[in-house]
Amino acid sequence: TVFDCSILPLAKVHNRAGNITVVTGNETLPFPIRRIYYLYDVPGGEERGGHAHRGLHQLIVAVSGSFEVMLDDGKNKKIVRLNRPDYGLLVTPGIWRELFEFSSGSVCLVLASEVYSESDYIRDYDEFKLIKS
Ligand code: TYD
Repeated sequence: TVFDCSILPLAKVHNRAGNITVVTGNETLPFPIRRIYYLYDVPGGEERGGHAHRGLHQLIVAVSGSFEVMLDDGKNKKIVRLNRPDYGLLVTPGIWRELFEFSSGSVCLVLASEVYSESDYIRDYDEFKLIKS
């Protein structure tokens, strides 16, 4: 459910020359990292996402700038604003998500538990609702 999609504070190594945040699959995260991708150059007003995954676990991080994530488990919805590189949003399987309100220059980093597979996507909201009912 959306209540399992929690904000995960990430370790920050800080000194006067700046910060480093390290994420390790299976150690920091409850899943192995099999893929990394990032969204950037999202034009103002555009939305991303608009789908659910059948089996994929993800950690979503605003490594630069900010954006909002709407999560929907078919019953409950919540909106989370991400705007810090040392916090991630865990998204469990079976959650419809929409990303919007990208600030200019923002970068959305995604750490994912599986390699890309189109068959893992549910891109039709009616189908999603049917599966969830
Ligand atoms: P999609 O996941 O729908 O984007 P978003 O959720 O950010 O709106 O992916 C957009 C396109 O990129 C789609 O045609 C599939 C392709 N894609 C890959 O080829 N590999 C990947 O790992 C990802 C995430 C997307």
